[in-house]
Amino acid sequence: MQVPVVLIPGDGIGPEVADAARTVIDATGLPIEWQIHHAGVAALEHGDKALLPASTKDAILKAGVALKGPCTTPIGGGFSSVNVALRKELDLFGAIRPVRSIAGVKTRFENVDVVIVRENTEGLYSGIENTIAPGVVTSLKVATETACRRIARFAFEYARERGRKKVTAFHKANIMKLTDGLFIRCAREEHADFPEIEYEEVIIDAGCMKIVQDPSRFDIILCENLYGDLMSDLCAGLVGGLGVTPGANIGLNAAVFEAVHGTAPDIAGQDKANPLAMLMSGVMMLNHIGKKLGRPEFVEAGGRIRDAYNAAIESGERTRDLGGTLGTRAFADVLVRRLRG
Ligand code: NAI
Repeated sequence: MQVPVVLIPGDGIGPEVADAARTVIDATGLPIEWQIHHAGVAALEHGDKALLPASTKDAILKAGVALKGPCTTPIGGGFSSVNVALRKELDLFGAIRPVRSIAGVKTRFENVDVVIVRENTEGLYSGIENTIAPGVVTSLKVATETACRRIARFAFEYARERGRKKVTAFHKANIMKLTDGLFIRCAREEHADFPEIEYEEVIIDAGCMKIVQDPSRFDIILCENLYGDLMSDLCAGLVGGLGVTPGANIGLNAAVFEAVHGTAPDIAGQDKANPLAMLMSGVMMLNHIGKKLGRPEFVEAGGRIRDAYNAAIESGERTRDLGGTLGTRAFADVLVRRLRG
């Protein structure tokens, strides 16, 4: 039976990496019915009136899963983030961002294996900003007990399910005593139900130093929204950059899989982007579908894709960001050839 999956190409490098990821996934022979929908600037270009069309949200809720390319957010003015709006409106409260070393990709560290769990719906990302007097502006950081509790529980449940050992909450509750204070209080209380998992709290500035000194000290890093965003890119730098860090945004009614990276305007349209982060997000999606629908062939196909890209990279077939020479399309073609074997 065909499984519907919404594909949102996004803009910038989005359409290139989305097309590459789709091509590779299709090469596994999985019965996926791709439903193309748009968001952001691409939605306007395709004639929609809204940046986040109701038809896109409805399609995601109906299919339950989407693979999404990045969408531009203008800096310092203009429209607010479509990416944030999508997470909020579909209540995709938990972001999972695994950061792992890839064999053959030389970085300062070997065997990095950290998962960032990011609260996706509030914090300073609430975007509640006001001019309260000429030359004086404020930005409101929102923390609710409901959201703090559910993301902490989500992190511990993820740890239990995956056999992970430790959750570290990164916070700044020494300064933001109420908001970050609530965040860690909820994490501490939720931890009571997960005694087999170690729990610790680290003030985020010291945490940043510790992780670039020795990432192996960390297992799951639990963060509120803004810290999770920053830690995601920082950790990407430990394993070869934004071309290799996937992500998932999980809610009760839908899950949207997207790479950590943005639209990369500096390389968009040049066949230079690494499609791997998008493809890895696709593999996370296949695992999710496999488990949710009881379709083991999806998990198995995800494993084949992982084997294909690991083998390709190790043998030097890679994009430029990883020291190779291949373009986006050529790298996807390599993986297709390996999958068809
Ligand atoms: P970015 O992630 O787009 O790019 C940062 C750097 O990483 C650039 O030098 C870029 O060339 C490189 N890079 C990113 N992805 C790559 C890939 N797949 N292969 C090779 N190199 C890659 O971050 P930036 O420049 O801060 O943001 C650009 C736009 O993307 C902004 O409008 C931002 O709001 C948006 N954005 C969207 C996200 C989303 O849709 N989830 C996430 C992050 C940013």
